[in-house]
Amino acid sequence: MSRSIEVKLKVNGKSYVGHCESRTLMADFLRDHLNLTGTHVGCEHGVCGVCTILVDGEAVRSCIMLAAQADGADVVTIEGLSQAGAYHPVQKAFHDHHALQCGFCTPGMLATAIDFLNTNASPTEQEVREALSAVLCRCTGYQNIVTAVLEAAAAMRGDAKAGA
Ligand code: FES
Ligand code: FES
Repeated sequence: MSRSIEVKLKVNGKSYVGHCESRTLMADFLRDHLNLTGTHVGCEHGVCGVCTILVDGEAVRSCIMLAAQADGADVVTIEGLSQAGAYHPVQKAFHDHHALQCGFCTPGMLATAIDFLNTNASPTEQEVREALSAVLCRCTGYQNIVTAVLEAAAAMRGDAKAGA
């Protein structure tokens, strides 16, 4: 039988102390222990990217991370992206450009895009496509997602035309 462990972490700005088995995956910890079901689970093997969250600002696949590894971390999930009722710029661009259909991949897409834009503020379309290839979308054909991420990049840089 697996040993129960304590995990102290911050999720979406709120401090939590959780108890789980040492083998509990981060995706399951978020969904089952913290009731944050916005993090979706697809392949459960680190391939599809839909479970991606931000851990200390970096995109991480929560289906191949143990909850124990998040002890002491600052985690952001889809539920924590908007601030004071306002969309994150990447969320707003997804909304404005209809960059989702079923929405299953969207939490992972957003986390992946945010991490990417934090490291590359002025990406080319090709760079955006390469970054987003980490997440599988079965619906959209990607074009609107790429457009949204490029517009979000402009908005985050403060370009005058962004969002106009
Ligand atoms: S569910 Fe985690 S990568 Fe597919
Ligand atoms: S919007 Fe359906 S999988 Fe991407």
